[in-house]
Amino acid sequence: MLTGKKIVLGITGSIAAYKAAYLCRALIKKGAEVQTVITPAGKEFITPVTLSALTHKPVVSDFFSANDGTWHSHVDLGLWADAMLIAPATASSIGKMVNGIADNMLITAYLSMKAPVFVAPAMDLDMYAHPSTQHNLDRLKSFGNHIIEPATGYLASSLEGKGRMEEPDAIVRALEDFFARNEQLSKKKIIITAGPTYEKIDPVRYISNYSSGKMGFALAEECALRGAEVILISGPVQLDVIHPNIRRINVESAEEMYRAALKYFPATDVGILCAAVADYRPLLYSENKLKRKNGESVVLELTPNPDIAAALGTIKKPGQRLIGFALETDNERMHAEEKLRKKNLDFIVLNSLNDTGAGFRGDTNKITILDTHGNVKEFPLRTKKEVAKDIIDETIN
Ligand code: C5P
Repeated sequence: MLTGKKIVLGITGSIAAYKAAYLCRALIKKGAEVQTVITPAGKEFITPVTLSALTHKPVVSDFFSANDGTWHSHVDLGLWADAMLIAPATASSIGKMVNGIADNMLITAYLSMKAPVFVAPAMDLDMYAHPSTQHNLDRLKSFGNHIIEPATGYLASSLEGKGRMEEPDAIVRALEDFFARNEQLSKKKIIITAGPTYEKIDPVRYISNYSSGKMGFALAEECALRGAEVILISGPVQLDVIHPNIRRINVESAEEMYRAALKYFPATDVGILCAAVADYRPLLYSENKLKRKNGESVVLELTPNPDIAAALGTIKKPGQRLIGFALETDNERMHAEEKLRKKNLDFIVLNSLNDTGAGFRGDTNKITILDTHGNVKEFPLRTKKEVAKDIIDETIN
């Protein structure tokens, strides 16, 4: 249901605009309040009279009302809405959204929107497949907008059938799923460590590992989508945070990560320790670049780093939950169980480097989750985004 949800429905100039009438009806049937905003081209495809009759509200299309010159406030719309849905969204409107070309009321409302935005593209295949459109859709996603498209099933690898607007009922379901998901972790505070650490040798060199941070960032996004407040303590990675409820704290070394984790963990409900923390750092840091010694080998003495997971395990209070990761190459199960116990974790997520598609850098992972009661659950190879959902379903919900 969408009871009481306030939805701004933006309609642009696509032939699929006629479906906006069904969409209005379906949203209202689910209990939503709908305010339509239409572009000049949209009006060529569906009349404002139809839309206002369905929504019991005047359609907003101009900056000023034609009757009495009243100013339509896009800022008010942005504050009023619980969600904005742009369906159908043409390639042109998508391009304007990406570039902030606010030459009509719909784009202006989009730029003022404080609520999550959903976009249902509608265009022919050639326009959809054009690199400009694909680039713009990627940009929209990187701004945190949600793209709603028909699932193409076995056609997923080709573009066939793409560009067609998703059916109104499925769009409504996507909104319902979004709001339901948004409440799952709404009162939780979660701290997540992610990425590698850099352990400095001299001003130009460091010791590190191949961790990309993708798993930790996927977990942070999923927790935030479920309504949690997330603190993401990240080592150096090439990734951006999307969701506004994620507070990112950048660190470089294990010691910095350790200090940040100790500072923030006490006020949180859950800690997810996904970072590949260096176990050792050089004992001495050289202020000057170390010089090559012709023909001679050098010895770099290493000293242990603090174990963040174990430290948090020690200060964990009743009601707090700790989830660790184990990346193993041999005797996987045994090592994972040992870490679970030693570090006082509640769950450990095991990935083995022996499984193809699992572990560092890639976009997929294959995991097994172990808990303190001896339960062991194996999951199939999936994308890191899907793995993030599995981990949260299994350990937090
Ligand atoms: O002992 P190992 O490094 O394999 O343990 C892995 C788990 O411990 C991961 O959850 C990792 O994030 C965490 N860890 C940590 N601090 C360290 C080393 C590992 O938090 N110094």
